[in-house]
Amino acid sequence: MRPRHKKHLTERLDAVRENIINIPNDGRDYREVIREREWIDTAAYFGNDNPVHLEIGCGMGTFIATLAARNPHINYVAVEVVADVIVVAAEKVREAGLTNVLFVRVDAIYLPKYLAPKSVERLYLNFSCPYPKNSYKAHRLTHRKFLALYEGLLTDGGALVQKTDNRRFFEFSLLEFSAARWTLTDVCCDLHAEPERYPDNIITEYENRFLKLGQPIYCLTALPPQN
Ligand SMILES: C[S@@+](CC[C@H](N)C(=O)[O-])C[C@H]1O[C@@H](n2cnc3c(N)ncnc32)[C@H](O)[C@@H]1O
Repeated sequence: MRPRHKKHLTERLDAVRENIINIPNDGRDYREVIREREWIDTAAYFGNDNPVHLEIGCGMGTFIATLAARNPHINYVAVEVVADVIVVAAEKVREAGLTNVLFVRVDAIYLPKYLAPKSVERLYLNFSCPYPKNSYKAHRLTHRKFLALYEGLLTDGGALVQKTDNRRFFEFSLLEFSAARWTLTDVCCDLHAEPERYPDNIITEYENRFLKLGQPIYCLTALPPQN
């Protein structure tokens, strides 16, 4: 995803520096990086102990800005790897005067270095890149390598909510959740056909595009295995 205006990125990032933690990729293997600990003190950042909800791949932030405005007593951490996308999201949140969203620019695979174990109550994956080629499947955000990471981050009783337009990616995800012994508490193959079942749904930027094309939107809620 690339916004049309990438001009003055450095200046724009500087203007939202209080809203974004920018973590440059130093090129090391994630298995080495995640042995290190630089956990973000979310309570200090937000100035309270409210529950933390996480979105990975927040894009230009429509979803997180809407959700955060609806739920001022939840703290949101929104992760996105592309600088000229996350800057748009941060500008949106700043303009709305929201103080319960922190953006982190980082590849999600490094998150265990930056977020403490069992610190996330809810995790959102909205229209994650499907990486259709089989050789890229380890990049899909529901690959079992990522599910193990999420299992470490989620609190007991925490949940992951996924939406996608891509049927093959959705099927892949269902198989990965099953293989990793997650419990699916909700599965739907056309969420907009049942608005009464999802009254709080927030339409993301990508969701809007696919809706206009008349494509069904798939969604699920999954709980990590309880040991
Ligand atoms: C298809 S877009 C969806 C954006 C938004 N969630 C929506 O629904 O409109 C997927 C986003 O995930 C980001 N992304 C993909 N892989 C990522 C990763 N490993 N870590 C963080 N962000 C990632 C991409 O840069 C892109 O902005």
